[in-house]
Amino acid sequence: MRVLVTGGAGFIGANFVLRSVDQRPDVRITVLDKMTYAANPDTLASVADRVRVITGDVADADLVDGLVADADLVVHFAAESHNDNSLSDPSAFVQTNLVGTYTLLEAVRRHGTRYHHISTDEVYGDLELDDPARFTESTPYNPSSPYSSTKAGSDLLVRAWVRSFGVAATLSNCSNNYGPYQHVEKFIPRQVTNVLSGARPKLYGAGTNVRDWIHVDDHNDAVWTIVERGEIGQTYLIGADGETDNKTVVEKILTILGHPADAYDHVTDRPGHDMRYAIDSTRLRTELGWSPRYTDFDAGLRATIEWYRDNEDWWRPVKDGVERKYAVTERVTG
Ligand code: NAD
Ligand code: DAU
Repeated sequence: MRVLVTGGAGFIGANFVLRSVDQRPDVRITVLDKMTYAANPDTLASVADRVRVITGDVADADLVDGLVADADLVVHFAAESHNDNSLSDPSAFVQTNLVGTYTLLEAVRRHGTRYHHISTDEVYGDLELDDPARFTESTPYNPSSPYSSTKAGSDLLVRAWVRSFGVAATLSNCSNNYGPYQHVEKFIPRQVTNVLSGARPKLYGAGTNVRDWIHVDDHNDAVWTIVERGEIGQTYLIGADGETDNKTVVEKILTILGHPADAYDHVTDRPGHDMRYAIDSTRLRTELGWSPRYTDFDAGLRATIEWYRDNEDWWRPVKDGVERKYAVTERVTG
């Protein structure tokens, strides 16, 4: 099977490529990645002889048409993915997440290619801390940020292309991923690499916001499950029952690294900060038989921390630049 993986040099896409090469000898992968600041081509170095990597933009219609023509399956991970960046400059989010997805959809429509769309639980907005509800496939869309609204728009494009043009697409909306190769701008890698660098973790606001953590390998196994067994036109929510508040995550990181659990700073809150995400993945589990393997968040977190400790060469070159960018707007509040 010839698979075109967009965004395959980013966090989740690269883990998907590495795992697929390892576990699926029948799969031939081409990566299309613009190599933005979020990509690290080194992540794919170990599979350079097994994977074709094309540097290019998912919104480049001519390039995309040729690559889709040569593929049996497109898995579309490429996106601008960081909420904080979408608040400082939304333009790339509109271009990549909306125009890029449109460009791919037109190509898969022309060539009749199977398409899987990677999306986020953030399209559903947020939940109150004391709300017993969790997101399901029928929760109304209510995105908060430029990032999540462009992802929501991209999902709606996919659904329209399925209904209007018969495109053979499935969609998945996943909760917060953690694991190796995640950019140090994101919450867990930022705090881990702060501590490893002798700096204090930075908690936005009070730190009571809740995220529903899932290991990246569980996400990617779910993607293959949906590609192989999902119903065309359907959306599947991916989650591993990993609800944890941010303060608890920071305290766990500090404790695992041998520091006092309260050795962190509260800093300026994110504008419009979503309070809580929570996924009900019953459909994926009961209809398609998927279940997560990483059911112990503490064990997954410890392994992830070990990975950052052992792979400083991977993250060190970009760490100072990320912290300089945060320092422009971030102030310690407590
Ligand atoms: P990431 O930022 O780590 O990687 C994104 C990749 O896309 C990068 O390699 C980047 O170079 C590439 N890219 C960006 N613009 C491009 C363009 N115009 N053309 C081609 N490539 C481009 O993101 P991630 O965390 O790996 O997220 C991957 C996907 O998963 C995204 O669609 C995101 O919305 C979704 N998602 C992420 C999470 C999460 O917790 N990180 C959870 C649910 C869904
Ligand atoms: O829910 C899925 C989404 O998860 C994905 O769609 C996004 O691509 C991904 O970036 C992630 O979005 P979040 O905004 O939840 O992730 P982030 O890592 O930026 O932040 C996680 C939580 O931690 C959030 O409540 C904000 C908080 N935070 C973040 C940073 C970077 C801090 O308290 N301090 C920080 O330094």
